[in-house]
Amino acid sequence: MRVVCAQGIGLEPMPDVYAHNEKLLAYTTGPSKCFFKCLIDQDFAFKQLPRYLQTHSKEDLLNRTKSPYAFAHNMEGKTYYEVISADPDRLEMFNQTLVQMDEAMPVLGMFPFSSLQSQVGAEPDRPFIVDVGGGYVRILMFIQQEAPAGFGAEMILQDRPDVIDAIAQDSIPNVTKIAHDFFTPQPVKNAHLYLLRRILHDFYEPDCIKIVKNIASSMGPTSRLLIGDFVVPEKTHIGDDFMIYWMDFSMMMLTGKEKTAKQFEMILDAAGLELVQIHPYAFGSQSIVEAKLKSNGDK
Ligand SMILES: C[S@@+](CC[C@H](N)C(=O)[O-])C[C@H]1O[C@@H](n2cnc3c(N)ncnc32)[C@H](O)[C@@H]1O
Repeated sequence: MRVVCAQGIGLEPMPDVYAHNEKLLAYTTGPSKCFFKCLIDQDFAFKQLPRYLQTHSKEDLLNRTKSPYAFAHNMEGKTYYEVISADPDRLEMFNQTLVQMDEAMPVLGMFPFSSLQSQVGAEPDRPFIVDVGGGYVRILMFIQQEAPAGFGAEMILQDRPDVIDAIAQDSIPNVTKIAHDFFTPQPVKNAHLYLLRRILHDFYEPDCIKIVKNIASSMGPTSRLLIGDFVVPEKTHIGDDFMIYWMDFSMMMLTGKEKTAKQFEMILDAAGLELVQIHPYAFGSQSIVEAKLKSNGDK
């Protein structure tokens, strides 16, 4: 208790007597509670890492069904998402944690969504945006601040069936929800935008190429793929935003990693796409990587 009280979380009104204060109460309910539990859950996998490395090969670390997280929970053979889905409390904890982290991770202020108004207005039968693996996070609601009601075109949220089922019907206005596995071809054709936010960091390059290829197969000449992730500096510098490195290490528990600009370009190239531009946020390392089909038609 002294450790947290010294940070202003909880009080010690007299020696050895502890009391709640506003900051401590924030960790006992809602998304903050889930976030805290999620960190403890992740920490459990960190602690098993020496045992994992003694008993596994480097190739195992690239195998989605042999993640350090699944190993720590005695559930090898299942992917990270299969492990969390096996326990409704853990799934809820994860989903709420994403909502909580969202406060700290911007959606707007990188790609200029409002700039698509005339393109979408000219072809409103094409969906405006498909948020692939969008989860609980209300990204499409934020985007509507710049693109009200998707400029009249459809906005689609895709995720795994159990996640889609758990999202309240009217939680995000103007949005169609569809269950879709991003390891299978994208069923929504020729949308103006496809968004993969905080998805590719869950995976190493071979799986990222599969996911991006599945989207590329449905893109038209003016479709854009937006990848919302950290872009890791090519080299570490003193004073770097350490959140990316913590997140990178955390993603290793799931068999994933944060990527550099060069690594994103390699993934895009292998999936038949090319980089248009990287849109960084004003501070930190959060960015949107914008890509389109290769102009020369190479796959
Ligand atoms: C790290 S979360 C990111 C959620 C959201 N895009 C965001 O920015 O917060 C990854 C999401 O991908 C979903 N997901 C995992 N595997 C998937 C699959 N094979 N097909 C579709 N969605 C999947 C998860 O359910 C989860 O909602």
